[in-house]
Amino acid sequence: MSDLFVGLDISTTASTAIVINAEGEVIARASGEHTLSTPRPLWSEQDPREWWTASCLALREVLDHADVDADAVRAVGLTGQMHGSVFLDHAGDVLRPCILWNDQRTAAECREITDRVGASRVIETTGNPVLTGFTAGKILWVERNEPDVYQRIASVLLPKDYVRYRLSGVRAGDVSDCSGTSLFDVARRRWSDVMIEAVGVKRSWLPEVFESSEVCAEVSQEASGVTGLRPGTPIVAGAGDQAAQAVGTGIIDEGVVSCTLGTSGVVFAASDEYRVEPEGRLHAFCHAVPGKWHLMGVMLSAGGSLRWYRDVVADSEVAAATRQQVDPYDALMEQAALAPAGCEGLLFLPYLTGERTPHADPDARGAFVGLTVRHQRAHLVRSVVEGISCGLRDSLELMRGLGIATRVVRASGGGAESSFWRQMLANVFGTEIATVSSADGAAFGAALLATVGAGAHDSVEAAASSCVRVVDSIAPQSDRAVYDAVYQRYCELYPALRGTWEK
Ligand code: XUL
Repeated sequence: MSDLFVGLDISTTASTAIVINAEGEVIARASGEHTLSTPRPLWSEQDPREWWTASCLALREVLDHADVDADAVRAVGLTGQMHGSVFLDHAGDVLRPCILWNDQRTAAECREITDRVGASRVIETTGNPVLTGFTAGKILWVERNEPDVYQRIASVLLPKDYVRYRLSGVRAGDVSDCSGTSLFDVARRRWSDVMIEAVGVKRSWLPEVFESSEVCAEVSQEASGVTGLRPGTPIVAGAGDQAAQAVGTGIIDEGVVSCTLGTSGVVFAASDEYRVEPEGRLHAFCHAVPGKWHLMGVMLSAGGSLRWYRDVVADSEVAAATRQQVDPYDALMEQAALAPAGCEGLLFLPYLTGERTPHADPDARGAFVGLTVRHQRAHLVRSVVEGISCGLRDSLELMRGLGIATRVVRASGGGAESSFWRQMLANVFGTEIATVSSADGAAFGAALLATVGAGAHDSVEAAASSCVRVVDSIAPQSDRAVYDAVYQRYCELYPALRGTWEK
């Protein structure tokens, strides 16, 4: 039996385990679902114990696979949703539900922390403004609103690090995930004394931090009993979902950028040096590759805008597609192709759930602008896809402004399955759009990090270059000039409409 490696992804929807060999071939995969709770508007929580139950299920299932022998597993790599805050007491018990990455309750606390430190010093130190999803504001919120819980805090962990704690009894984090806490000195790759002091956090609450491919723990006897992993199996530090996804799609060298089209849309670039967008409009985080950083733009409603269109506007198209046993999204893309590029002046703003990049504005709203009686449903759906693509170009332009070359963009996620959308991205971005062999996203990247920790590959670069292959590539076509003009008009809309939302 050849050496095997496990990747475990604690996403918001599920815990997913995959097993790969050293060549990057996926041998088995399994998932266990999570429930999400929104006890109040803007709140978003999960019970960390449910991640553990789902992880045990997924791990047992992959290890039971006929082609997998637990004794051949050389290492485990963890990844997961970033920014969530798990609060534990001295006994390691969960004190309250985890406050997730998309929870928006901490606007006042984030403002207060920013005032205590100074906005430009915060960005200089942490690479980002203090954002509502990040950890620091959540700790202050618990101090203010749940003093009984606050009194009992002994540890604050990120989601995948809680699962590591259950797997090994070790409290450890990695540089990429810790970058999204507002408590981390991203340039120096270590906790920031300035931020820790400003928020009033006890240093002992925070885990020790490692580079992503370093071994930092091993599977305990107790966890072995419930997961099927061999006791003593090494666990590498792993990475936040975006950095792990980037490793899994080979975004290691400067100049190769990724664009992930899921509910949200993420544009991600590796950077050989610590670069910060002066207004903090791009996230600047440590990469899962030692000695590298990354820049990232996050659009909150990318595929989410198209899903809204499908569910709320396109009921007749969905009904017809269902009758013909066609995927409704494929039918919508076919319809969009009937309208001309630029939609005869119709524009769509995709801020249906506020926005993060480039306008960190929870009050931003979506809009169709420029409707006339000539416009048909094909124009409507195409303008939604064009608006999402223009919003993603905003992140790319900010990266270009910082001197990052954007020669090739590797597209992944559900939206990238459409060749129509990939061609549109090539035209809107003015870049080649490539797709890669690995479809297992962050879990695959975490498993690659495990191959490095176990010594099967010398470096993250070597693991990615031998396990990730480009399978398709699309060049920009003549619509590119039309889209340059569309993009210029798109950029004028947010400043023009902002005042109406604020009112
Ligand atoms: C990254 C981010 C999301 C979450 C959930 O900054 O907020 O990717 O990690 O997937």
